[in-house]
Amino acid sequence: MRLILLGPPGAGKGTQAAAIVEKYNIPHISTGDIFRYNIKQGTELGKKAKGYMDQGLLVPDEVVVEIVEDRLKQEDCTGGFLLDGFPRTVVQAEALDKVLANMDGALDRVINIEVDKGILVERAVGRRICRECGATFHVKYNPSTKGENCDQCGGNLYQRDDDNEETVTKRIEVYLKETTPLIEYYSKQDKLVTIDGDRRINEVFEDIVTSLGSEL
Ligand code: AP5
Ligand code: ZN
Repeated sequence: MRLILLGPPGAGKGTQAAAIVEKYNIPHISTGDIFRYNIKQGTELGKKAKGYMDQGLLVPDEVVVEIVEDRLKQEDCTGGFLLDGFPRTVVQAEALDKVLANMDGALDRVINIEVDKGILVERAVGRRICRECGATFHVKYNPSTKGENCDQCGGNLYQRDDDNEETVTKRIEVYLKETTPLIEYYSKQDKLVTIDGDRRINEVFEDIVTSLGSEL
């Protein structure tokens, strides 16, 4: 199954992605995670991306497209994949269409998670992530039972550098300007399903599974 998760910062893409890839047994490709990994490792790519991410801006299209193109060529993607946070501009979407055409593999669905703008900042600012296993929590909506430690592996929880109110607000602005045109782009391709993301995590997941149906 070839899927894309679309939605503003804090919509719940990463949270739902974890459950989707487990159920459908496909790799999770998050461009944000790839950049954060490279920043942590101190690579050239990480150095290039950090300045944009800290300001809540998009990393240039040509940098992102090359990474995703390379990733999709890896063998574990032949049976499908879940793209989370890519594409984010029409240029990226057009580039992806070309890559997929060369791979002979069309997209199955684009899952658009809709959440009211008013709650996105609170969601992102309250997010905590496990340093060891990457599990995502929220101080209010999805707290770890072990407080400042991960309840899955005991690792330390941290807050992302770009999860402060000012940067999240900028990221939402950038999303509205650069990424919302993709809703129409994929709607025209008849790939789009829209999910109400302003409900409990498991309810959102059930809706996603239902929307994917059994024919895929
Ligand atoms: P990226 O890492 O992709 O961040 P994002 O799109 O801003 O999305 P988030 O990770 O903030 O939110 P999410 O939707 O995954 O929410 P989550 O599930 O964690 O990108 C970061 C940066 O990298 C960009 O700003 C850009 O600079 C760069 N970048 C990445 N991709 C790029 C690209 N393609 N092109 C150019 N630049 C790129 O949930 C959020 C919180 O809410 C969590 O605490 C969670 O526990 C909680 N929560 C989740 N669901 C619910 C629910 N239903 N109810 C209550 N709480 C919930
Ligand atoms: Zn953990």
